Amino acid sequence: DWNSGNVIAEQVAKIRAQVGTGKVICGLSGGVDSAVAAALVHKAIGDQLVCVFVDHGLLRQDERRQVEEDYVKATGVRLVTVDVREQFLAALEGVSDPETKRKIIGREFIRTFEQAQAELIKEAAELDGDPIRFLVQGTLYPDVVESGGGSGTANIKSHHNVGGLPEDLKFELVEPLRTLFKDEVRAIGAELGLPPEIVQRQPFPGPGLGIRIVGSITFERLELLRHADAIVRAELTAAGLDGVIWQCPVVLLADVRSVGVQGDGRTYGHPIVLRPVSSEDAMTADWTRLPYDLLARISNRITNEVDGVNRVVLDVTSKPPGTIEWE
Ligand code: XMP
Repeated sequence: DWNSGNVIAEQVAKIRAQVGTGKVICGLSGGVDSAVAAALVHKAIGDQLVCVFVDHGLLRQDERRQVEEDYVKATGVRLVTVDVREQFLAALEGVSDPETKRKIIGREFIRTFEQAQAELIKEAAELDGDPIRFLVQGTLYPDVVESGGGSGTANIKSHHNVGGLPEDLKFELVEPLRTLFKDEVRAIGAELGLPPEIVQRQPFPGPGLGIRIVGSITFERLELLRHADAIVRAELTAAGLDGVIWQCPVVLLADVRSVGVQGDGRTYGHPIVLRPVSSEDAMTADWTRLPYDLLARISNRITNEVDGVNRVVLDVTSKPPGTIEWE
């Protein structure tokens, strides 16, 4: 029967057999899969692994610190953070179309990660002539099944901004979660001593807060949304609902303003949308019937504490016809 200790021992042996004395790179997203995959690999081969974390400025409050401090402390991994917040803001300036946002974010992300890889590869090769040959991926069993079981090597050649690399450089993939389901990955993460904020993290889209601002993205809007989102997450956690809801996007309607009244004066602020959903697999979802007193507390806190927001509204649409995210 299933036991996280056994799985860890088994995977550690497998990783050692695959990698030997080779060097390995892993991108951390802040999410549970890459965090657990990297921790397993680090347990197996220690500092032959280097992790890369891209701060694109679309993260939620505290996520970078959780990776840089809590995760590193728990695992001892060698971590390189690439700070490209300015670059992402510049690339996204004035863009409000959802698909265009996604394309820009995806493109900038790949570019950033590959540049970091290229630098690390050069550095490693200069050190002792041994380049980085392995790439860790947090592929889960459901991903394997969905994609027809294919695997093998990842080609980083398709983007031509990795100056100085051999044209045909390929990474061999290390995928220690390939036989596991999400709840098993969480169990292994807990067993490995990873921070609960990471192990229990709900799904968060790759494009981050960028697709939770309806309208164009600015630093001020991101700060506003980070603040509102942090309040929602804190209240959901305090209410003991983290394990009950699937996820709760918090959305800023940056192009909408409405009239309100606060203190002695009239306000003209933005609405924040709460999108709590229950789901099994994100393919379909229902809106979660959160307790009214919890909704009232969240609404009071956001309108009192977040400058520029004077209304909180609840999304009561199932999926379909709505999607979980607003963009
Ligand atoms: P939708 O909005 O399509 O979302 O109902 C379904 C699930 O996928 C997540 N999501 C994404 N995840 N990159 C990701 O890694 C994306 O571009 C992306 N868009 C949506 C969403 O948070 C939900 O869990």
